[in-house]
Amino acid sequence: MTIVFATNNNHKLREIKSILGNSFTLISMSDLNINEDIPENEPLLEGNALVKARYIHNVTGMNVFADDTGLEIDFLKGLPGVHSARFAGENKDSAANIEKVLSLLGKTENRKARFRTVIALILENKEYLFEGIVNGNILSEKRGTEGFGYDPVFIPSGKIQTFAEMNLSEKNTISHRARAFEKLREFLNQYQLSNNKELF
Ligand code: IMP
Repeated sequence: MTIVFATNNNHKLREIKSILGNSFTLISMSDLNINEDIPENEPLLEGNALVKARYIHNVTGMNVFADDTGLEIDFLKGLPGVHSARFAGENKDSAANIEKVLSLLGKTENRKARFRTVIALILENKEYLFEGIVNGNILSEKRGTEGFGYDPVFIPSGKIQTFAEMNLSEKNTISHRARAFEKLREFLNQYQLSNNKELF
């Protein structure tokens, strides 16, 4: 009853465990003593997620999934996208990333953006992709202190608060990551049912 989540981020592991529930055991890379920083140099989120899942699958032969997320801004033709973590430099500084986004947007009125999460799953040697999207707009200044990354400048469509003004459970009801992982959860449950067996 075990599946690997290709991450070294314990915060993410906890968050995803709570979304996926108890129907199987989730283990992380550090549980397997794999501490490498797997390079994420692909031009698309899909490619990065697949590279991570394939790496762990090749090393362990286990069922595995990996995720990759980006903020895609229309006015910036989809940037920062796959470059979201390191948009302003290698040290993954969220404040600097936000500064760069705001300065590139300037005073433009077209501030449409979306967070997009892609999950790559390798299950019994077959590959599957899942996607979760939340549409919204980029503010011209930061608001709120919760969350991480670009949360202080992102307002989901139909809401008045930024992600950084919401608590985690509010964010998790609509977030890109929650939507993608909900699809993964449904798929795994269905897969188990239709194969009528204990898979993991
Ligand atoms: P990752 O693929 O989940 O590591 O995300 C890559 C980068 O996207 C992060 O370093 C953040 O800058 C940004 N990001 C991902 N998810 C979120 C989110 O929920 N809120 C704000 N920024 C995020």
